[in-house]
Amino acid sequence: MSPAPTGAGSDAAALTAAEVAALADLAERAARAAGELVRAGRAEHGTVTATKSSRTDVVTDMDTAAERLIRSMLEAERPQDAVLGEEGGATGGTSGLTWVLDPIDGTVNYVYGIPAYAVSVAVVAGPPSPPAWQPVAGCVHNPETGETWTAALGAGSRLNGEALPGPQRPPLAEALVGTGFGYTAQRRAEQAAVVAHLLPRVRDLRRIGSAALDLCAVASGRLDVYYERGLNPWDVAAGWLVASECGVALVGLDGAGASSEMLVAAAPGLAEEVAAAIAGVPSGAGAAASS
Ligand code: IPD
Ligand code: CA
Repeated sequence: MSPAPTGAGSDAAALTAAEVAALADLAERAARAAGELVRAGRAEHGTVTATKSSRTDVVTDMDTAAERLIRSMLEAERPQDAVLGEEGGATGGTSGLTWVLDPIDGTVNYVYGIPAYAVSVAVVAGPPSPPAWQPVAGCVHNPETGETWTAALGAGSRLNGEALPGPQRPPLAEALVGTGFGYTAQRRAEQAAVVAHLLPRVRDLRRIGSAALDLCAVASGRLDVYYERGLNPWDVAAGWLVASECGVALVGLDGAGASSEMLVAAAPGLAEEVAAAIAGVPSGAGAAASS
């Protein structure tokens, strides 16, 4: 987890509705501009140029170019805010607000031409990581489908401008569950144990490949549950607000708040039921959550 660039004195409650709306507008403009860039540049620059935590954790020229573009828009309009981006790391600010960016969430899908990746732009008050943060505004934009999820604190969440109805609440045995896997072999072995435990207990599992889109899918009724261990703040910041603003519960294990370490998103009641099922896996995320 990256260090907090700022956060001093931030308070989402001090922001007016007009200020929150202006932040949401900037998040959407930045996400759309970056989306256009990455979609147009995929054929020429969408190949792997570096790896990070493992040989399968990849970066393309377009990840870095898109983050640069978003940062330049933020610097022009909000120079007082801090920024935390997947590719560029942490930059300090003075306002107590931090922009949390993932220029391409779902980079592996992007490289393979699978149309399930997104630009994720959010602004949070307080420390820029869960559970202490307060996401204030966010946008998740899929440049391939044109679908754009937006959310503003206290003002609900939308898909292409239409208010989201909120999550469905089927019984666990009828729930369609999304998840994701980390990039290291050890973590994947633990995640496989959780999958083996859950699969016989639910309708089916999906591994879509973008945490931001997974959270938006729960908000849109396309998944009933999404859970993942070991995410980063930039994977989830915008999707977190999209989900929470339409009534999705975000929880951790054993009564803990959702965090990057473990996040379960679903309708209230179902989220806790899934968290309890995961915590009960002997050698899975329950046992390993604090490792
Ligand atoms: C990844 C995606 C994936 C999730 C991984 C993330 P990236 O982000 O969100 O769905 O399972 O944990 O790291 O690397 O494509 O930006
Ligand atoms: Ca990501």
